[in-house]
Amino acid sequence: MKRVRKAVIPVAGLGTRFLPATKAMPKEMLTVVDRPVVQYAVDEALEAGIEHIIFVTGRNKHVIEDYFDIQPELVDTLARSGKEEQLASLERMQLPAGSISFTRQQAPHGLGHAVWCARDIVGDEPFALLLPDMLSFGEKGCLAGIMELYEQTGGNVIAVEQCDPTETNKYGIVGKGRAVQGGFEVTAMVEKPAPAAAPSNYYINGRYILQPEVFGILGTQERGAGGEIQLTDAMRRLSESQSFHAHHFKGRMFDCGSKEGFIQANVAFALARSDIRDLVFEPIAEMIGSQARRNEAA
Ligand code: G1P
Repeated sequence: MKRVRKAVIPVAGLGTRFLPATKAMPKEMLTVVDRPVVQYAVDEALEAGIEHIIFVTGRNKHVIEDYFDIQPELVDTLARSGKEEQLASLERMQLPAGSISFTRQQAPHGLGHAVWCARDIVGDEPFALLLPDMLSFGEKGCLAGIMELYEQTGGNVIAVEQCDPTETNKYGIVGKGRAVQGGFEVTAMVEKPAPAAAPSNYYINGRYILQPEVFGILGTQERGAGGEIQLTDAMRRLSESQSFHAHHFKGRMFDCGSKEGFIQANVAFALARSDIRDLVFEPIAEMIGSQARRNEAA
């Protein structure tokens, strides 16, 4: 079984659900507590043992590339003013030279097409895929959990959670087969089915380990739901010749591409941080308490 060394992170999306904030700034650079959303995806990948990150970017996303570069003026200024702690935190997040690649998706043809754009950089080896809008919250990152299942099953592994059965049309939905440790065999995959057509309410939550054969399939994949080239459709075709297992993620995913998910993520991550929790707990509890009283009175 080949080790998973590379992770693809697509960041080409326009972020229309978050306008006007995303008019001039990539949605992946929105800040949860004190770091951009995309940093959490990179940290999750590194935690799972990934050694090389491949970003699939688009126009107006160059700030993401700058973010992962060294900023010499900033480093000098911090060093001169003795800000050791900030310097150390910048150094900690710096990826080693040569361990990060950028390629462009020139036109918005869908997630399947974005992943296909990384084919030459990934090459002939299994890879992880993280959709950075989906922020993994829990003791252990979602990708580390998938990786454990992958070590037992090989093949392709995707992470799933359960959604409200009326909301299957928002996600890729899988069919549930025989149980395996921490998950199950995938028996079907459908992108954004109407509730009546959904094989279950287990939705693909944005974390995958895929075999490189998916690229060949993506190269011939026709447009599916929403008129886009859908990764889920290519995975379904790949499942005719390779195994697909689902890891049932027991933490929480926040959809930071939506306003409500982003606000919840900020509260959850702030309350989980020992350096911030005490600063924000009481004011937040107070605001929630007074809103609850207003709701009761209404
Ligand atoms: C994409 C995938 C979908 C998955 C979802 C998770 O959809 O196509 O299968 O469930 O991400 O966020 P999108 O959110 O890009 O419409």
